[in-house]
This record gives sequence, C-alpha cells and structure tokens, in this order.
Amino acid sequence: MDPPAVGEAVKRVIVALDPARRGDVDRLLDMARLVCGVGAGIKVGLPMLALGGSEALAEAARLCKGGGLRVLDLKLADIGYIMRLAAESLSRGFDAAIAHAFVGYEGGLVELKKTLDGLGARLVLVVSMSHPGSREVLDPCLDKLLAVARRVEPWGVVAPATRPEVVARVRETLPTTVILSPGVGAQGGKPGDAICLGGADYEIVGRMVAGSPDPVSALRGVAEYIAARCPEK
Ligand code: C5P
Repeated sequence: MDPPAVGEAVKRVIVALDPARRGDVDRLLDMARLVCGVGAGIKVGLPMLALGGSEALAEAARLCKGGGLRVLDLKLADIGYIMRLAAESLSRGFDAAIAHAFVGYEGGLVELKKTLDGLGARLVLVVSMSHPGSREVLDPCLDKLLAVARRVEPWGVVAPATRPEVVARVRETLPTTVILSPGVGAQGGKPGDAICLGGADYEIVGRMVAGSPDPVSALRGVAEYIAARCPEK
C-alpha cells in the first residue's frame, strides 16, 4: 500500500485490546465496536482469552463484524495438529489468526493454513517481534523465517514498529505480503515509522489507544501523526 493521506491513515491502524484485569474485559469489548467503526480493526489475544474466556474472543469478533479486520493473536507455535484444534475452536468469526513462523512448514504451518482457509480466516506469521529480546534469537534468524514465510505464503506477517529497518527488510523480501507492525506507543515505536519508513500496511496500537479515556480521539491522533510523518504523496 502507498503511504496514506490524512483521511486514510486511520484505516491503517489496528487497535490491540488486551485487558490487564477481569474488570477491563467489558470496557474493551465496548471499545471494540467503537474503534472498529473508525480504524482498521482490532486484535485480541491471550489476555482476552485468559480474562474473558473464549466467549469474550467470540464477542469481540461479533462486535467488530463488518467494521474492520478482526485479528486473533494467540501466536500459535505448536505441531500442526494442535494448532488445528486451537484454530478450529477459537478462530471462528476472525478474519486472520497469528502464528509463529519458526514452527516451519511441514507438519506445522501448512496444516494451520489449510484449517484457516476452511474457516474463511487468513494466516499471519510472526517473523520478528517488537520487544528488545527479539534480537536474541528471532532477528538473527530473520532470513530463515522469511524463507518459511515465502514457502507458506501467508496473507500477512508481523514485523516490529519499534525497528522500522527490520520492517523495511521484510518488505524488500515479501513485496506483496501484508505487513502488520505492533509496538507503536507503549513500546516506544513512533506512529508512522513502520508505514512511512518500513513499508508496513498496518500499525497495531494497544495501550496508547485502549488505555486512553477517549480511545477514538487517541486513535485519530495516531492517524494524524502517521499521515504527517509520511512525506506527502
Ligand atoms: O500495548 P501495546 O501497543 O504494546 O500492544 C502491542 C500488541 O501487539 C500486543 O497485543 C502484543 O501482543 C502485540 N505484539 C507485539 N509484538 C509482536 C507481535 C504482537 O507487541 N511481535
């Protein structure tokens, strides 16, 4: 995707809804409906599953239906059979589900991809992470992880907004794969870096938006920052 103009930038921001305590679950589910109508969609994962159960995951997907991308982030990393069971019970209603690329193709991601295809959901592979520890094991293996991604042909990959140079490498290797970049805000990534410098398609923002008393304004603020950061196109 080309860098966005102001009005389009908000459609490039996915909001991560990660409750820190049980009492946050309902507030974040209400927020799902709000931000889905404004931004690119939502991402929910283990915190929502742990604190709200599989019902909360399904409710988030339902509330966001027709309003944007619904991404399930369980960062699956198991044999294909187990990932298939998890995907079959949890990923219904979602548009995309995230797994780790390091699992590999044979007996792993090929089976998950087939399962998700059958459920009408798309596969997204993590090839790098946004925290500093990603430099310890994942980043030195980036070429191998990208080779797995080339073989699996997922719809999307995850690459860190905290290191736009990694995003740029991913973009170079996978010119047509959708790149989702988390790490904006709370983890130090600047809004717009992943899209404008790295060539990402979406930036994922969690606490900076979900923790705000006015999440829609915070989301629009992120989008304005992104649009201002991209050189005018
Ligand atoms: O609150 P914050 O903006 O840091 O949330 C980032 C979200 O992106 C979390 O849901 C986290 O699981 C996710 N994520 C990440 N790094 C990755 C993949 C996903 O931070 N490589």
